[in-house]
Amino acid sequence: RKGKTPEEVVKRYLQKVRNPPEEDCTICMEALSGPSGYKGPGVGGISRAESVGRLAQCGHQYHLQCLVAMYNNGNKDGSLQCPTCKTIYGVKTGNQPPGKMEYHIIPHSLPGHPDCKTIRIIYNIPPGIQGPEHPNPGKPFTARGFPRHCYLPDSEKGRKVYLKNSIICLVLVISQQHPENNYYFIQVLRLLLVAWDRRLIFSVGTSSTTGESDTVIWNEVHHKTEFGSNLTGHGFPDPGHLDNVLEELRAQGITEEDCLPRD
Ligand code: APR
Ligand code: ZN
Repeated sequence: RKGKTPEEVVKRYLQKVRNPPEEDCTICMEALSGPSGYKGPGVGGISRAESVGRLAQCGHQYHLQCLVAMYNNGNKDGSLQCPTCKTIYGVKTGNQPPGKMEYHIIPHSLPGHPDCKTIRIIYNIPPGIQGPEHPNPGKPFTARGFPRHCYLPDSEKGRKVYLKNSIICLVLVISQQHPENNYYFIQVLRLLLVAWDRRLIFSVGTSSTTGESDTVIWNEVHHKTEFGSNLTGHGFPDPGHLDNVLEELRAQGITEEDCLPRD
């Protein structure tokens, strides 16, 4: 990843297209058979022969120049997301500011999950100064409502993957009373840890709840922040919650495969 130009990164995910179809590029809305409509800086010098590329996995085609411009507009982490079908190439990361993610088991049940205990996740992010990956680099950002507490049922559903050798297991202990549980991780929690590492749980932007700009906000992965009640709609019961979160994580490129044991 390091040292690669944006054009080299984009090309890694593309196959050559010799005869562009009679279609428009959905990034610039110009014909694929003609030049890219994007006239931004830093995208010159692309030869005619490679002016259109096909994304290797999903098959969608764009002007190379348009993909490079799109890449330059993002956080340039070496990954690319198809603007049509959202297929992710490489490892997508976000712009979540530095902070801490902790969790533990609490011996109480959530509404709708009477037979299990609860995992409480505590996120803490302090205010700071925005980096180049944020909307207003150099400007401060606020962080409201931290530490934010979130809840997940500690249900049997996810307790199926043996992860003795994973890196995550070495640093985190799930329950003091039941040491055998150290080797099990609830699916969703494990994936949330990956999302945290990739800076995808929060971002910096404008809060749709408060309207405040330049502040830390939830990203695209829903969390439950109410324990015994459901006044905000972000509480229990919600039978679909775990599956919804798995779907939202998948949309960020985080799946079961990211948590397979490595020996
Ligand atoms: N709990 C969990 N998720 C929430 C909450 C909440 N209380 N409020 C909003 N969300 C979800 C929204 O449904 C949306 O998908 O977060 C996403 C982003 O919404 P914003 O309002 O932009 O996010 P943010 O400002 O971070 O959150 C508002 O959530 O956890 C609380 O303390 C936090 O009061 C703040 C509220
Ligand atoms: Zn696509």
